[in-house]
Amino acid sequence: MRVGIYPGSFDPVTLGHIDMIKRACAMFDKVIVAVLINADKQACFSISERMRFLELALKEASINNVEIDSFNGLLADYAKRKNACAVVRGLRAVSDFDYEFQMALTNKRLNPDMETVFFTSQSEYMYLSSGTVKQVAALGGDITGFVPEIIKQDIINKSVNKN
Ligand code: PNS
Repeated sequence: MRVGIYPGSFDPVTLGHIDMIKRACAMFDKVIVAVLINADKQACFSISERMRFLELALKEASINNVEIDSFNGLLADYAKRKNACAVVRGLRAVSDFDYEFQMALTNKRLNPDMETVFFTSQSEYMYLSSGTVKQVAALGGDITGFVPEIIKQDIINKSVNKN
């Protein structure tokens, strides 16, 4: 059974993330979408909100071989515990590369059995990030086509109330 992990902050999940998850699910027997519990990073949405958004979005997308989880500590250790053979990450632009390459090499050093697999973003999602979504929503812009329809209103409500 080939288990892949798709880790991230998902604050909040975007349609770019969902596209990556669909593609990863076609490649692995099981994909674990792992939300980082990061006490240092100021998140807009709580871990439970982020996991609920993922659940709703993935249910809507009718993907079966996916599991949603959260983790703290090292990704390399978490992957070992989950018997995962690979981590999936998305690359949108060249600017993502430095950070992703550093992370992949660090993870390889920490867990030599684990590979990092990069998926290139679809052109329509190349500009999209959770940060952009929050900013556009907070300033009253239309986030249709940025996030799954089923969670759109929740994101707008929270982003607007934060400002
Ligand atoms: O969505 P993000 O914020 O780009 O995801 C980053 C994430 C969660 C993949 C990364 O921060 C991570 O793996 N954190 C866990 C800590 C860790 O393993 N650090 C060592 C590798 S750099």
